[in-house]
Amino acid sequence: MLRRQLVLGLAAGAAGALLTSPALAEDTIKIGLIIPMTGQQASTGKQIEAAVKLYQAQHGTTVAGKKIEVILKDDGAVPDNTKRIAQELIVNDKVNFIAGFGITPTALAVAPLATQAKIPEIVMAAGTSIITERSPYIARTSFTLPQSSVIMADWALKNGIKKVVTLVSDYAPGADAEKSFSDRIKAAGGEIVAAIRVPLANPDFAPFLQRAADAKPDALFVFVPSGQGGTFVKQFVERGLDKAGVKLIGPGDVTDDDLLPTMGDAIIGAVTAHMYSASHPSQMNKDYVAAFEKANGFRPNFMSVGGYDGMHLIYEALKKTNGDTDGDKLMAAIKGMKWESPRGPISIDPDTRDIIQNIYIRKVEKVNGGLYNTEFQTFENVKDPGKAPK
Ligand code: PHB
Repeated sequence: MLRRQLVLGLAAGAAGALLTSPALAEDTIKIGLIIPMTGQQASTGKQIEAAVKLYQAQHGTTVAGKKIEVILKDDGAVPDNTKRIAQELIVNDKVNFIAGFGITPTALAVAPLATQAKIPEIVMAAGTSIITERSPYIARTSFTLPQSSVIMADWALKNGIKKVVTLVSDYAPGADAEKSFSDRIKAAGGEIVAAIRVPLANPDFAPFLQRAADAKPDALFVFVPSGQGGTFVKQFVERGLDKAGVKLIGPGDVTDDDLLPTMGDAIIGAVTAHMYSASHPSQMNKDYVAAFEKANGFRPNFMSVGGYDGMHLIYEALKKTNGDTDGDKLMAAIKGMKWESPRGPISIDPDTRDIIQNIYIRKVEKVNGGLYNTEFQTFENVKDPGKAPK
């Protein structure tokens, strides 16, 4: 009881401190960037950090006459850490934005803090549909799982795939991917012969893949978060599913550009739906990939563009408010913003603050000796289909 009171008292104190909003006339604008630099999601942190640095190298560190300071913190993708770090950044460092968030639970953990402190929370990585509904101060520059999963279902149905096993990571974005894909397949007369969920932490896919193989589907629909595709594909091949003619489909997280170069030729032919490929053929993307690879020595993946575009959103919002950091003014500036990203044209839905973007169907091919997701069909300006109709 005593402990509970203490915890509640601390929480009330923190909430009180959060209500004192940052001074309006400061010369430095601070962005608290909270990403996983360690642990299983470290590839996401590495990609976003590199993209944020690239954005600042290309666009400078001054906007509307004010210095932009990024304070990077590693939360290891543990939601309790994220919350504590966000609280410290808001109360002690007086940040004007919080940004990053490598997985859904960490993005959700700080939503109440963004609301209390009235500062924008820019979600650069996490992909569960519900996130933007958790605070009016959240905007997203990443993607949602339904955005790509529904498009994947439509492509599968048109291409003679009727019998599917779904295999998803057992947490919110996996549930979103599974539901949006399966509902669409079933509505058109297709069949989900098994729906498999795999633990998020340290997954061993082998026993689950055996179950998938036994069901003899036309295709295996897979969602694993960025960073796990390498292990998944290795075990898919070890179990002989590629040779058994089971087609690999899903949102593009599984053929993530960060790991794709090391996946081996067995992954050639996998078809995925996603918002970014390092081989997207626009001039802007060619320049982005060249600059990114030059600075870092590795290929940018879809998480990197979430970070790069998140910085663009922050810079442009500040230009619109002429450096005013009032959270409500910044959110008004963010709503409806449109620009060209390395992934193609994107905008922020003024009603939901979620991203509207093209979803591309891609297949893994060998191009100039390297594995790439080659885009071959485009669905334009896709809104998140996971949102409840307003
Ligand atoms: C998420 O946790 O929302 C998430 C993480 C990695 C992904 C996709 C979604 O690749």
